[in-house]
Amino acid sequence: MPLEKATGQDKKLQDRLLQAGEIPQHIAIIMDGNGRWAKRRGMPRIAGHHEGVNSVRDIVEACGQLGVKYLTLYAFSTENWNRPKHEVSLLMRLLLRALRDERDRLHQNEVQLKAIGDIAKLPQDVQDELLDAIKLMEDNRGLTLVLALSYSGRWDITNAIRRMAEDVRLGIVKPASVTEDLLASYLSTKDIPDPDLLVRTSGELRISNFLLWQLAYSELFISDEYWPSFRRKQLYSAIAEFQKRERRFGKVSEQIRKRQGSLEYVERFLKSVSKL
Ligand code: IPE
Ligand code: IPE
Ligand code: MG
Repeated sequence: MPLEKATGQDKKLQDRLLQAGEIPQHIAIIMDGNGRWAKRRGMPRIAGHHEGVNSVRDIVEACGQLGVKYLTLYAFSTENWNRPKHEVSLLMRLLLRALRDERDRLHQNEVQLKAIGDIAKLPQDVQDELLDAIKLMEDNRGLTLVLALSYSGRWDITNAIRRMAEDVRLGIVKPASVTEDLLASYLSTKDIPDPDLLVRTSGELRISNFLLWQLAYSELFISDEYWPSFRRKQLYSAIAEFQKRERRFGKVSEQIRKRQGSLEYVERFLKSVSKL
């Protein structure tokens, strides 16, 4: 069991969410607005990135407690390399420090760490720390935390097609046998189910080259909160909103077993009441 358990009012909120419906199996987050958070307070952008680490800690912990299976965090995009050198360098230092500071706590909480993206582009010390942390946590069976670093959706798809083309050239794959599942198996997310819920903070209404393939049927939730002020309460609102959505996957409403869901809820609720 994870070390940190929810207590008091927070536990009540979590219990309410757990009773109200499904908890998304995979939540993906575009953590945006660090710079604006800092600017609004008259501080340098890096102060926002710094405070953003505290949001990461809180959201990871809350997801673990709620039984979310996968949490993917967009931490640094391919295009973010084009920011001023100074900011990129500070972000890399901060990433290194956060990995060092958080790894034991993550490990104790049974988190499994993964990374997606062009990891070879990261500074060597960041790569070493990251790979060490991944190795340390590889047998953990709690929340899988996926860090998207030097990542972009187009990079992911291009990389997959390049590798698949190579396998076609070698005769391992026949062009006629290329299916969606086969292409998905070449993506960096090959062992990870598609996100059920995509959250973007700071009010921006765009995907910014995140998981382009994988988001095909994810529910979208945009929060106006800047990432450093996005904490578990805001996450609970996003999940509650998700629970109200009807995911049709192209079908019509009548085909969706909504009634089944609400019956299960009543049953679960009655069971929990009878235990009181
Ligand atoms: C998100 O915050 C963090 C990264 C993209 C690394 P930003 O740095 O984009 O902050 P804003 O969007 O400029 O406020
Ligand atoms: C998206 O944020 C990337 C990450 C959160 C890592 P950006 O701040 O880079 O996105 P744009 O430029 O506003 O689209
Ligand atoms: Mg931004």
